[in-house]
Formats: sequence, structure tokens, C-alpha cells
Amino acid sequence: MAGSPTPVALIKEKLDIVEFLRGHLTLHPAGKNFKALCPFHKEKTPSFMVSPDRQSWHCFGCALGGDVFSFVMQYENIEFGEALRVLAEKAGVELRRLNPSEYKLTGALYDLNAKARDFFREQLKAFASAQQYLSSRRLHRETIDEFELGFAPPGPEALTLHLLHSGSSPDEIIQAGLALRTERGLVIDRFRGRVMFPIYNHFGKVAGFTGRVLPHEDPERSEGTGANPSTSSGLAIAKYINTPETPVFQKSKILYGFSKTKNAIRDAKCAFLVEGQMDCVMSVQAGIPNAVAASGTALTVDHLKTLRRVAETLVFSFDNDEAGWAAGERAIDLAHAEDFEVKVVTFKDVKDPGEAAAENPEGLRKAVAEAKPAALFYFEKYLTDTADFGSREGLSRLRAVLRKVQGIQSAVTRDFWFKELSRRTAVGENVLREEAEKIGDRASPLTPAPAANLPAGVSAEAGVGRGARTRLDLLSERMLAYAAARGDFSAAATCVEYFPPLYLRGFELLREGKKASGDPELDAVLHAVFLREELVKEEAWELLREELTKEYFRKRREALTRAVRLAESRGDEAGVRSALDELRKIPHNA
Ligand code: UTP
Ligand code: MN
Repeated sequence: MAGSPTPVALIKEKLDIVEFLRGHLTLHPAGKNFKALCPFHKEKTPSFMVSPDRQSWHCFGCALGGDVFSFVMQYENIEFGEALRVLAEKAGVELRRLNPSEYKLTGALYDLNAKARDFFREQLKAFASAQQYLSSRRLHRETIDEFELGFAPPGPEALTLHLLHSGSSPDEIIQAGLALRTERGLVIDRFRGRVMFPIYNHFGKVAGFTGRVLPHEDPERSEGTGANPSTSSGLAIAKYINTPETPVFQKSKILYGFSKTKNAIRDAKCAFLVEGQMDCVMSVQAGIPNAVAASGTALTVDHLKTLRRVAETLVFSFDNDEAGWAAGERAIDLAHAEDFEVKVVTFKDVKDPGEAAAENPEGLRKAVAEAKPAALFYFEKYLTDTADFGSREGLSRLRAVLRKVQGIQSAVTRDFWFKELSRRTAVGENVLREEAEKIGDRASPLTPAPAANLPAGVSAEAGVGRGARTRLDLLSERMLAYAAARGDFSAAATCVEYFPPLYLRGFELLREGKKASGDPELDAVLHAVFLREELVKEEAWELLREELTKEYFRKRREALTRAVRLAESRGDEAGVRSALDELRKIPHNA
């Protein structure tokens, strides 16, 4: 293989990043680069830059960046292997020849899944019991066709035999998650006697399945081969079983229904998020075209990030039981943290949206249209007995709500709910905020550092994680870009002591004329600096320096004030004194 280019290199050579991104974003020329509204965070002025020279992109707002591969991985929320396939197809690069094992495996798994889907659909026609079940759930023929529902026959190896006959190997069938090998070495179908829901990935390929048992399928009655793991071990048979994790099926990423409902979600900027496949299918049938479900798993941040690109609002509907409520609350909080507007639909007389859709489709549509804001849902849940905040119990309920409100990303929305909460509880708004701050403080990464050991600068914030860039990061980056654009580091040198550590290292490297370090985190900084050069030609460095210095001292003051409070609450007098000393050293005019 020596000398032949890797598939990645070949794809990059053939696929111009600017041309590729034009398919996803509206690009505007900006000097020798291009800019666009960033698809990864909400913004009104473009801070997403694309460099044709470097064949790279970078967002100055959210600090993401990379090449065409990382763009596709982020944008489509997929793994590298999948991005490779997608881009190879786009670039007209034959992966088959270049990377036989990888192409063969994922390609074969998709093929197998597609064949299995077709097989299950055929079988549904042959099993009256399955058809009856679906119609008892009030699924229409058209819905069954639209979602390509099928049926896995009850026998031990119907699908496996079918696939073997069409040339697949037992190992492939097992790898696709469609069959299992028993202890005795037999290969048997994973899904038996179940209604089958194919699960499509976001490109519309069948990545896996979920199968629902027919109600009359009694585990004790089945086959008697001892081959069914759930029956032989005496465990109750699961209502739903899913394809296990395979190279093409990652539950934590795939949203059921999304490949079909994506456009409706985008149009409405809103998704109706439900728990189960049946809920999703029935909701769409009831005239809610923007429904999706997490497939057989708790909602993840990956799911939310996928949705965030097409929707601003999420309407949640959970099962009407304890587990449903608990899962729902977690989901709401995650969604708030991802800056969604979150609404909730609740039911009184039915167990879930699937049932609601069957009983009264119009009622469900109305309920979704009139969903209430999640904050109200919390108020009603926790503040049933608003009067008694003198009691421990009442206070802890109020705190639970405050914690939720504090978790909302948008400051404006937060403000709105503090006011509403104050109105409802007759507790002063500022008091509520103060209480909320205290709760928030506990989770803050800054508080644990004792005052005397507080590092100079704001390095405590470097631990917040990638993507969470501070204003000081941004100002330091602009200062560096200004210096790099001119090849003159004297202005930056006058304030480099206020840079966060990573930027300080960047400064040193750049001054030595280096362009890369090998440290990915530092290289990301350098990379951003180069892309910014274009923007900072006209930067007034004195103003920039002033802003940067102010920001540094503002942060420092904030950290020290918190440190004083913390030391006070611990009765640590020495700590209080040393933090106060530090505070006094901060120049008054800064
Ligand atoms: P539910 O038990 O709420 O299913 O589980 P449902 O949608 O109400 O199903 P019906 O109406 O009885 O047919 C919700 C989701 O949790 C996963 C499935 O993805 C299901 O759709 N689940 C549930 C499993 O993976 N395994 C199970 O045994 C049960
Ligand atoms: Mn349910």
C-alpha cells in the first residue's frame, strides 16, 4: 500500500470544502475566505468562517472547527466511518477498492437490513394474527406502508434461512444483529413473532429494528427448543426488543421517524418528541407530521443536537406513569440546557400519545398545539402547596423548581420565569434569584478552589470544556490574530499576562514563527487565529487591549468575591482575609 493515497486524502483532494459547504450553508465572500451563519449554534451575524486555502472551517461563536470530515460528522451527527462513506460517494471515490474491509462491512449490514425489512413486510401479508393486531391498535394500511412495518414469523430461523439462501454468511447476519448464536451453536433469528419497525438512520438507510411482541405470544408456549434466551432463563419476555449496537446502529444517536419527519420538523421549527415507536407512528397518523422518538433508549444529548439543527421548540409527551415522569423531567432539563424552548403535553385518561392518537386524533392534535411551557409544568408539579416555604419540605420543593429555571439557557426566558414564579409564590423576585444563585454556585467549577490558591488569570475556567469559550478567550484570540496579521507582537506583549494559559502558549509559538504545535487543543487556537487574520486588519488594538484587561479583572473580581463568600460560609477566616487582600490589589479603574 506504500505510496498510494489514503481514502481520506483522496476525498479531500477531490472535494473542495467551499463547494461542499455551499450545499449546506449560504456562503458570503470575506476576503480570501468565506463566512456563513453557523449551523451549530444560534446567531444573527455570521461567525462561521471557511478557508479555501486551508480547506478548513471554524466558528468563532461556538469554537467548533475542522475539515470537511469533521463538518459532516458534526452536521449529520455521525461517526467517522459513516462520514467516510457519505463523502466518498459525493467525491466519487470508490471505497470498495481503497478500503475493502470497512466498506464491505457497513455496506453488507445495510444490505442485510434492507433485505430483512422486505422479508418482514412480505411476512406481514401472510400472518392474519399480526394484521389483526395492528388493526386493533388502529393503525391504517397507509401508515403501515409508510413506515414499512412488517412481521417476523414465530419460527426459530425464518429470516436466517431466507438470508442464507440469498448468499449471506451466518456471521454477517449475526453482526447485523438479526440473528444470535445459541450456546449449542445454532444460529437463530433474534426477532420471532414480533411486529417489526425498521429504524432508519438520518440518511434513510435501515440501520436496525425494533420488534413488538404480539399480545397473545406466550413465552411459555414458544417453540420449546430452549433456544430463546429469555424463556429458557425463565424471565418474562420483553415487550420490545431492539437491534443491539452494531457498526451501523447506535441507539444513542438515531431518532426513530426522523428520516421521514425531518422536513416537517424543519418547516415547523418544532418536533413532537415521544417515547415509543408506536407513539411516533400513531402521532404521524393522527396528523402530527413532526413526531419523532428515541429508539428504545433514554434521550441523549446527541439526539438533541440532531434536533437542534432543525428545531427550536420541542414538545414532549411522556407516558402517564412514574417511569415516564422521571424520564420526562430529565429530558426537559437536557433540552433546556441545549437552548430549546420546551413544552409539555400531559394526559389524564390515556397511557401515552399512541393511545391518545388511537382514541382521539383530533384531541391529540389540539393537545400538542396547546402544549404548556415546561416551566409551568414544573410549577404545577412542585408547587402544589405554595404557602408553606417555612417548612423544610416546602423549601426543598421551591428549590427544585429554582434549579430547573436556573438550567434554562436563555437569560431572557429565565428572567420571565423568575417573574412568574415570584408572582405565584409571593416570594420576592430578588430573593428567588439569590436562592437560585446559591444552588447554582454549588455546581460551579470555580467554587472548590480555596481563595489563597486561586490561580492567576481565569485558568479555572479552562476546565469548563471545549466549546465553552469565555469572552477572555475571544479577546485574546483577536489580539493574537492582530499580531499575526502584522507579524508584530509588541502590542500583544503589553497584555499577554492577562491571556488564558492556552493563548499564552499560542502567543509564544506564533512569536517564534511556528504555525502548529502537535497539541490539538493549542492547534485549534492557532487555527482560529489564522482564520481570523482577515477580520482584524482594522482592529484598533488599544481598544482591544483595554477590553481585554477589563475582562480579565472582571473575571478575577468575580472569582475572588465568590471565594470570599465560600470562605465565609465555611468560617475560614484566613481564607476570607487572603481573598480580600487579593481583591484589594485589583486596580480601581480596571
Ligand atoms: P412503552 O412500553 O411505553 O411502549 O415503551 P409503548 O409505545 O407504550 O408500546 P405499546 O403501545 O404497548 O405497543 C416505550 C419504548 O421503550 C422501548 C421501545 O422503544 C418502546 O417503544 N422499550 C419498551 C424497549 O426497548 N423494551 C421494552 O421491553 C419496552
Ligand atoms: Mn408507552
